[in-house]
Amino acid sequence: QESTHIYTKAEVSSHTSPETGIWVTLGSEVFDVTEFVDLHPGGPSKLMLAAGGPLEPFWALYAVHDQSHVRELLAQYKIGELNPEDKVAPTVETSDPYANDPVRHPALKVNSQRPFNAEPPPELLTENYITPNPIFFTRNHLPVPNVDPDTYRLHVVGAPGGQSLSLSLDDLHKFPKYEITVTLQCAGNRRSEMTQVKEVKGLEWRTGAISTAHWGGARLCDVLAQAGHQLCETEAHVCFEGLDSDPTGTAYGASIPLARAMDPEAEVLLAYEMNGQPLPRDHGFPVRVVVPGVVGARHVKWLGRVSVQPEESYSHWQRRDYKGFSPSVDWDTVDFDSAPSIQELPVQSAITEPQDGETVESGEVTIRGYAWSGGGRAVIRVDVSLDGGLTWQVAELDGEEQRPRKAWAWRLWQLQVPVPAGQKELNIVCKAVDDGYNVQPDTVAPIWNLRGVLSNAWHRVHVHVAP
Ligand code: HEM
Ligand code: MTE
Repeated sequence: QESTHIYTKAEVSSHTSPETGIWVTLGSEVFDVTEFVDLHPGGPSKLMLAAGGPLEPFWALYAVHDQSHVRELLAQYKIGELNPEDKVAPTVETSDPYANDPVRHPALKVNSQRPFNAEPPPELLTENYITPNPIFFTRNHLPVPNVDPDTYRLHVVGAPGGQSLSLSLDDLHKFPKYEITVTLQCAGNRRSEMTQVKEVKGLEWRTGAISTAHWGGARLCDVLAQAGHQLCETEAHVCFEGLDSDPTGTAYGASIPLARAMDPEAEVLLAYEMNGQPLPRDHGFPVRVVVPGVVGARHVKWLGRVSVQPEESYSHWQRRDYKGFSPSVDWDTVDFDSAPSIQELPVQSAITEPQDGETVESGEVTIRGYAWSGGGRAVIRVDVSLDGGLTWQVAELDGEEQRPRKAWAWRLWQLQVPVPAGQKELNIVCKAVDDGYNVQPDTVAPIWNLRGVLSNAWHRVHVHVAP
């Protein structure tokens, strides 16, 4: 009788490379899948995301593994069992304001733990047109509030002569429900490329501070109308406050023009559903604002209060952040009042496959990525170059057709091309065009700004070709 090998979690987690062997677990079983990695139908890089740890969180995303032939295949690689006593007791520090933050998906690439900021890796980002909730990028400025859905109330300050509202979740569900697919992008997406030009202040986002979900909720214009608000030709803004607050009690806040909020065609939502589920805690449970075509910063999560003000929000994040400046402006000379707050974003695209530094097979290469533009402008074309921008080919656009002036979601794109004979390396570049014929700038330096926002230069990836 063979004795079963028992391994600790620590042992498993030290097996993450071809040299040490690549191990994974499923339930209490341990597998050495080193030989299988290159054979994985979903590609080696995806399997490697689970190296040294459990498969469950990844397989939960890809139901293709929920088949007996996949289990049988995995069983061939079994080497032992996990030590049953090896349960790492989570050490909860009660004074830690982040102690109640939710558990996150291990695939997320963490840019900061407290507050939590993380992006999906490129190989998962464009795997689905709709980003699965557990790997949707997360941008938090503060600890995640723990909101009780039964006692939750959304306060909507009434118009003069109208009435203020205090809406429970049930009340919100009584408004007509709208469902739309919307891409959210952080103003800091691709900031890490700006850092390469010159230091900037901010989180080092790569290409993943962008994700797409199908949102469901009440229309903001319907709720505002019930509170007596009307569209008026003024500078008025609708101000949002989150239930997350800093130690001084200051809540996260932002605002959008009243004209956008009241325009039914702008489809601004008070969302309580994300991809058919209640909002996950990281994404604003129980209610967040979704402002299609507008920078992520205005999509206020854990929404507590809505009011109409004569001017835009006085929040730090509205007036002292999320603005663009000339490359010549530094922290000594910056005048935040001199620039408007970012609302709609410029046209954007990036390559997710292959990745920088990778080696691709000679013969044929498949290039994939995403493209999106702000303000509901549709992406009409993506151009791809293999030679650093000397010659171009047009990529194939996938995903849902877009409605004119309401192209709220990204297009995924791909291009399958022969690798030019004799090439040892490729300088792959992509650039998108929107329906206003806006294009991306070719380099980062002329759009560099001290906060590292609006980084949308041609995306460049350098790869080697296997001999
Ligand atoms: C597809 C096995 C890990 C993502 C597959 C298929 C098998 C397989 C057999 C093809 C299934 C079919 O079409 O019937 C495995 C094994 C793994 C593993 C044995 C671990 C040892 C992962 C991980 C991820 C992943 C960690 C994601 C992060 C995918 C995807 C596909 C796939 C996206 C679909 C590929 C396509 O249809 O284009 N996997 N997998 N796999 N796998 Fe895995
Ligand atoms: N809302 C609250 N209440 N607190 C926040 O920190 N971050 C904003 C916005 N709404 C934030 C917020 C920023 S900058 C972005 S980019 C988006 O939420 C990110 O949304 P996500 O975490 O669901 O991707």
